[in-house]
Amino acid sequence: MRKKVIAGNWKMNKTNSEATEFLNQIKEGINTDKVDVVVCPTYLSLTDMIELTKDTKISVGAQNMYFEEKGAYTGEISGEMLKEIGVKYCIIGHSERRQYFAETDDNVNKKAKKLIELGITPIICVGESLDQRENNETLVVVTNQVTKALQDISSEDISKMVIAYEPIWAIGTGRTATNDQAEEVCMQIREVVKNIYDESTAQNLRIQYGGSVTKDNAKDLFAMPNIDGALVGGASLKSDFIDIVKA
Ligand code: PGA
Repeated sequence: MRKKVIAGNWKMNKTNSEATEFLNQIKEGINTDKVDVVVCPTYLSLTDMIELTKDTKISVGAQNMYFEEKGAYTGEISGEMLKEIGVKYCIIGHSERRQYFAETDDNVNKKAKKLIELGITPIICVGESLDQRENNETLVVVTNQVTKALQDISSEDISKMVIAYEPIWAIGTGRTATNDQAEEVCMQIREVVKNIYDESTAQNLRIQYGGSVTKDNAKDLFAMPNIDGALVGGASLKSDFIDIVKA
């Protein structure tokens, strides 16, 4: 049985004091071993959120990193820096980073390898645009993204990562994929992993759905056989996140 993983992607929201106040509000409500719960604040709040969650079941993740260890990369943060302060997860390849910050599949692969080496769980985001869906390219696009992200990663390391299927047209739009649409692509991702590695590697991989997940649709999405949790944006900024974890 794969353990579900629910991650809140706070994006560029909440100042440090707002983040502190919010986490203090929700942390009592999230006290479960049944699922893994992660919050991903901005870099600036990582240290304080790690301190605040020390005696809780909540892990803290970053929203990005750079794959080099150190050097002349103005504005970037390395995996080593994240590891030292106790970051456990890191989102990579989010569609907003691909769209606004020129993140490529090759970079995503390099970041995934680095994070695995450091013992930080990568949450690798993949997903198609509306145009691609309407042109029936969804499965091809996602297959390519997954294949490139996993290049030169061993089967053993697949269980140390999470893949998040996030259709771009569903992110922040209130237009969630239907359960069947989400399941179809998550199943395809597992099939891709099976084809590259083997059945048991594919069965061990945790695959999240993301894109307008709410407390009202979470339960049905989580009931789908290939959906192992969610990457939650907007609803993770409110106490609704507790209800999503409970779902
Ligand atoms: P959303 O964002 O839940 O606000 O649609 C999801 C995400 O971008 O990870």
